[in-house]
Amino acid sequence: MNRRLAAPVGITGTGECFPSRVVTNDDLSKIMETNDEWIRTRTGIRERRWAEPGTGASQLGAPALQMALDNRGIKASELDLIVVATVTPDTMFPATSCRIQDMVGATNAFGFDLNAACSGFLFALNAAAGMVAGGAINRAAVVGVDIMSTIINLEDRSTSVLFGDGAGAVIVERVEEGLGILDSELKVDGTGACFLHMPAGGSLKPASAETVAAREHYIHQSGSEVFKKAVREMADNSRLLMDRNGFTGDQLKLFVPHQANIRIMDAAAKRLELDPSRMMVNIDRYANTTAATIPTALHQAVQENRVEKGDLVALAAFGAGFTWGATLLRWAY
Ligand code: UT7
Repeated sequence: MNRRLAAPVGITGTGECFPSRVVTNDDLSKIMETNDEWIRTRTGIRERRWAEPGTGASQLGAPALQMALDNRGIKASELDLIVVATVTPDTMFPATSCRIQDMVGATNAFGFDLNAACSGFLFALNAAAGMVAGGAINRAAVVGVDIMSTIINLEDRSTSVLFGDGAGAVIVERVEEGLGILDSELKVDGTGACFLHMPAGGSLKPASAETVAAREHYIHQSGSEVFKKAVREMADNSRLLMDRNGFTGDQLKLFVPHQANIRIMDAAAKRLELDPSRMMVNIDRYANTTAATIPTALHQAVQENRVEKGDLVALAAFGAGFTWGATLLRWAY
């Protein structure tokens, strides 16, 4: 998809929420055959947060949204829409967006969940922004949240060390002319579905004693296939978006890539000919939180004053599906 919005729409507030429990690489080495050196050098991860068992996505998503509302200085009742990007909803239904709507008291909002795995936040941001730009609604919230600790197989060291739990949220509304989302390029390629998926628990293979015994309710990933495709598509797509809009890497103030592997992120930054200091990195502390990586990294960049009104910002993602995309913005506040 190649799109420009019908009106200037941007992000006007950010928030985040992480569980308090820190799980270091050394902690993992006590429960599986791994070590800090392997995880750090192969992925860039030093530690991650894992929620206490029984924690639902809404319990991180609602506080993250409340923080975004507070930072924007508006009430939940002023939202028209809540889009929640997640692969770990509280339940298959009702949607987690309904629970978050209730928890924050967004009494005038409708909502829905969207599943595009690690690209979920970018897809949700663009869906919400399109509705605002088209005039259907005035103000939306986009929440990216995942409790990945509930779907990792601790018997599979090649995937279980990679993921963490977290939530990020943004407020999306009309902004000044020339600011907000400039352009996006979003893609899917379903031929990649078998390389990163949860085999059971959907209509194709409903949960049964057999699927549980076969550990099919966990993430299954062919790491090197995903790695190769992620490096190529995230880098090429980000570059395409920059070229299409006539921007060079030195004009980019901040690059916020999906945080799956520091080597994938570095490859994308290199393709953009970007000064490494302009790339937002928090994978070392939080690992891959799937739909939450981009909004939490963005929130932290705002907190650290790494972005100012008018700055050029690029967001880029790659995930299961395959799904991938990039969005270019001029920061709106
Ligand atoms: O967010 C969604 C998208 N996901 C991604 O972008 C993830 C993409 N994939 C990756 O990031 C990388 O492929 C991994 C980090 C998953 C793996 O890195 P790799 O450099 O591709 O390693 P590998 O799979 O080639 O494994 C190398 C070795 C293997 O041992 P042998 O067969 O060479 O003896 C693995 O068994 O490393 C071993 N290994 C481990 N060793 C210690 C795998 N996991 C671990 C571990 N600790 N946790």
